[in-house]
Parts: sequence; C-alpha cells; structure tokens
Amino acid sequence: MDFNDLKNQFYTLYGSANETPRMFFAPGRVNLIGEHTDYNGGFVLPCALQYGTYLLIRPNQEYEIRLASTNMTFRADFPVSEIPQKIAGEWTNYPMGIFDQFLQMKIPLSGFDMLFSGDIPNSAGLSSSASIEMVTAYALTVMLNTTRMEMIDLINMSKRAENEFVGLNCGIMDMFAVGMGKKDYAIFLNCNTLEYKKVSFVLNGFKLIIINTNRKRGLADSKYNERVAECQLAVNYLNQLAPISKLSEISFMQFYKIQEQIPDELIRRRARHVISENQRVLNAVSALLKGDILQFGALMNASHESLRDNYEVTGFELDNLVEEAQKINGVIGARMTGAGFGGCTVNIVRDNAVDAFIEQVGREYHAKTGLIADFYIGEPSDGVREIT
Ligand code: GLA
Repeated sequence: MDFNDLKNQFYTLYGSANETPRMFFAPGRVNLIGEHTDYNGGFVLPCALQYGTYLLIRPNQEYEIRLASTNMTFRADFPVSEIPQKIAGEWTNYPMGIFDQFLQMKIPLSGFDMLFSGDIPNSAGLSSSASIEMVTAYALTVMLNTTRMEMIDLINMSKRAENEFVGLNCGIMDMFAVGMGKKDYAIFLNCNTLEYKKVSFVLNGFKLIIINTNRKRGLADSKYNERVAECQLAVNYLNQLAPISKLSEISFMQFYKIQEQIPDELIRRRARHVISENQRVLNAVSALLKGDILQFGALMNASHESLRDNYEVTGFELDNLVEEAQKINGVIGARMTGAGFGGCTVNIVRDNAVDAFIEQVGREYHAKTGLIADFYIGEPSDGVREIT
C-alpha cells in the first residue's frame, strides 16, 4: 500500500492538504477449518490476514458522512442524522450499517470524510465485508472518543450491521477474527460462549496458500440464508427428542444415534455436516497443539468433502481447485474457505512444492474452467488497528 499516494487521493477528493487524515487498517481473514458452524453455535479456527482494508478518515464541519473507495467508483454522501436505505449490491452498505448501529445506540455522531482502500479480493470468502465494517467501527470509536466500546462490542456491532442492515444472517466468526487476530496465531473460538484461545500457527517448512477461483458468487447471500434456515429445521426435528436450540449442542456420537429423527434426507445431511465439522475443529486444534500438521491437513480434506457432499456449498470451480491441489505431492491439505458458492480455497503446501503447485493447479484449473486463479500466500496477522 502506497500511503502517500492514498493521502493524495484523499486530498484530491476532499481538499485541504493542511489537515492530515488518520489511517486505520482492518485485516481480512481466512478460515482454516470449522465452516458453517458459527451460526450453529459451534467451533471455528480462522486467522486474520496481512491483507485487508485501509481507511483514511478526517472530521468535517458539515455534519456530512462522505464515503469513497479507491476500488469502487460508487460513492455515498449523507447527513449524519439520516442514514439512507441500503442500496442493493453496493459496498457502501457496510459502513452505512455501522453508522446505523451508532445511531441506534444513540452515540452522537459528527461529520467525516472517509476514503477506503482494500488489497483483499471482494466477495471471495476472505471477509472483505467484515473488514470494512470493523475498520469503520474501530475508527469511529477512536475519532469520537467513545471509551465505552470494547473490541467485543465492535465485533457484536458489526455482526448486527451485517444481519440487520445488509441482510445476511451470518455468524460472528468473520468479525471476531478481524477484531481479535494475532500475528502467528489462529483463533480457536467457541461461537456459543465467545470463549477463545490463540493457537500458534507458525508453519515451519510449509506455506498457507489461498487460491481465488475468481468465480462470481451469484445468489450467494440467498443460498447462505437458505442453509441457515435448513439448520434451524434440523434443530426443530431433533428438539422433539433432545431439547436443543443449536446444532452444536449435540455431539457426533449422539447425532449418529438420533439422526433418523430427521425424516428429510437433505436436512439430515446438513446437520451431519455441521455436527461432524464441529468435531473436526476440535481434532484439528489437538493436531496443531501436537505439531501434527499431516493430521491437520487430513481434517481439512475431510472438511471439504463434507461441505461438498453434505452441505452442498462448493460447486464446480472450488471442487476442481481442491481436486487438482490434492493431486500434488507436497500438498498436506486443501479445502474451500468461507461461505462457499465460489470464492477461495485454503491449502497447506510444503515449501519445496510451492512452485510446482502454483504452476500445475493454475494450468489445470484454467484448462477445465476457462478461469484464471489467483494465488496468495497467507500470513496469520494482527487484528484491526490504527496505523501511525
Ligand atoms: C461467511 C459468514 C460466516 C460463516 C462463514 C461460513 O463467511 O460471514 O459467519 O458462517 O461464511 O463458515
């Protein structure tokens, strides 16, 4: 990121080079394992990335909020007291959702000029949206001196903004990883109690490689909300035998015994994914603590299989990338990451196999799909912060 260039763009947009804006950064995240478990009260294991969203922000005296981005042409200006309705498909819904939360909480706002700039791919399952929400929430609390807000409040607020304003019934994983991320660590989170532990994730001799399918995620939000509803249906069936409010409340052994209670085969598979994935996260954390990276990789592979066959959120491009990756000697584990329906895969690859991996997987993927995949090396990084 070229900070001087970013500042110059800010001055071109908003004028007056005499008053310097402050700069904030929120990372994106990659989820290592524990997919579609968060809204079921389960376990997840994400880490924050070195990529994310930068925000330059400066107060104005006009009681206006002005939102612009170096990545998108769409801009929004509105008075602080009147947040406009959401505009379908526009990035501005994420900061607007945060302003809406501030108004709902009756926190007095003043005017701000804001310029966002992301180096993380959008709609790729790496939480570009949570990163925009969290950078906005964090920057506002600093700029407004809102001392009553802790990091966990910002995380909860960003989740509410996404659920209420944007309309995605997501869980808390993304905001939590963006807020609590730590360099060299993954975040092992219990989404029911919000208790978490940092688990060291330093890969000696291996790389964490993220691959973007570059497939547009059409209808992803409605499909996501459909999965959330299917899990609720599974809870309703199981509830007749065991009083539960979330799928994560039963173990895989229990589920095995009572699964026939769910008459609908599709709903049973959805539940099977969530409950088995929850167990995989626990096993993956024990594997990491023992330094057993091979076992960790095997669990990643099993996670993908379940997301493909039971939860049905992968699709041709993600399956192809994972299949091609798994063919290569030196690949320890490969799976889709994030919501699915397009987006990215996450892979653990031996250092000496990285070049062949990028070359071969890229070539085969292009031959089978006509798309060009992008490769990134992921580094577990710190959470949201001001950059001075
Ligand atoms: C998206 C959501 C998260 C989580 C993942 C799937 O990233 O925002 O809350 O549900 O999908 O694990």
